[in-house]
Amino acid sequence: MCENILEYETVSLDDENNALVIIDQTLLPNKIEILSLTEQKDMWNAIYLLQVRGAPAIGVAAAIAVYLAAKQIKASTYGEFYKQFTEAKIYLSKARPTAVNLFWALDRMEKVITENSEKSVDEIKILLKNEAKKIKNEDIDICKKIGEHGLTLIKDGDGILTHCNAGQLATAKYGTALSPIHLGRERGCRFKVFACETRPLLQGARLTAFELYSNGIDVTLICDNMASHVMKSGRIQAIFVGCDRVAANGDVCNKIGTSGVAILAKHYDIPFYVCAPTSTIDLNTPTGDEIHIEERPSAEITEMWFKQPITPKDVKTYNPAFDITDNKLITAIITEHGIIRAPFFENLRESRKKI
Ligand code: MRU
Repeated sequence: MCENILEYETVSLDDENNALVIIDQTLLPNKIEILSLTEQKDMWNAIYLLQVRGAPAIGVAAAIAVYLAAKQIKASTYGEFYKQFTEAKIYLSKARPTAVNLFWALDRMEKVITENSEKSVDEIKILLKNEAKKIKNEDIDICKKIGEHGLTLIKDGDGILTHCNAGQLATAKYGTALSPIHLGRERGCRFKVFACETRPLLQGARLTAFELYSNGIDVTLICDNMASHVMKSGRIQAIFVGCDRVAANGDVCNKIGTSGVAILAKHYDIPFYVCAPTSTIDLNTPTGDEIHIEERPSAEITEMWFKQPITPKDVKTYNPAFDITDNKLITAIITEHGIIRAPFFENLRESRKKI
C-alpha cells in the first residue's frame, strides 16, 4: 500500500479485464480498497453509494462505465448497437441526479456514436474507449489549470476553509477546490487548511482531512457548526469549494452546507471562491431553483457512522444532499479558463464560448 492517497488513481479503466477501477471511498480513511467492477449494476451502485463521488470523478466513471457497456454489446447493425447503448446510458444516468458532469459525460459519449454512424460497430467501440480516456485526461489538465488560477488569489501562509471534498478523490487528479492547495504545496507554500466535516456523509472528515494530511498539508478538522467561530477568529483568508452544477445566472449547487458557509463568508467579508471545470457550467439551467437536489436515505443522518441510532425510531427526517449558493454570495468562479466574476450571467456565457 502507498503512503500517500494521491499515489492512487481515483478512477481508471482496466480495458483488458473490462473493468472500472476505483478506490472505494466509503471505506476511507480506515481502509484503502481498490474495486475492479465489471457488472453495470455494480458500477451504478458505486456511483449511487458514493464509492466514487465528486462531480468530475462521477463524469469520468460514467464515461468508462458506458464504454464498457458498449463494448459488451453484440450487435452487428448500427441501429441495434445505438439502441442498446442508449439503454445503458439511460440506466447510468439515473445513478445520481444533481452533478451535471454525469449527464455531460454520457452525452459526450453518445455524440461519438451519432457523429460516426457510417463507421462499423467495432470502430465505434474503439472511438468510445478513446473518448472515455480523453475525458479523464482532460480532467487532469483542467484541474491543474484551476489550481494555477486559484493560486493567484492566495498567498503563502493563508488560512483556507473548505467544505466537502473537492480534491483529487473527487476528480481524476489534483481536485478543483483543493488543486491550488496541492499545487501550492509542490511550490513550497504552507497553507493552513480548515476542513468542515460535512455532515452527514463526512466527506470533509473522511476524505479532505485524509487527502490533505496524507499529502503533508497542514489541515485542521472542524465540525460544520464551528465555521462561524473559526472565521470570526481571523484564521481564514479565503474559502474554496467545489461544485456540482453552476446555473446560467451563477447560482451554484454544491454539497449541503455550502450555502451556509457562503453566508458566513459574506458576513465576515472573506472571499468565497467556487472552483468548477467548464463542464460543470449548465447554461440550460437558468437559476439554482431549477436544479434537482438529490434526497438521500434517512439512515445517513440517523444511524450511519454511529454505534447505535441517534434518534427516536421513525422520527421524521429530511436529507437533501446539496444546496444552492446564491450568486450574490460568490466572489468568483474559477474555471480552467480563468477567474469569472459578476455579472455572472454574461461572463459565464463568454467562458463557455472558449470550449
Ligand atoms: O455527494 P458528493 O460527495 O458526490 O458531493 C461532492 C461535492 O459536493 C463536491 O464538492 C463537488 O462534486 C465538487 S468535486 C470537485
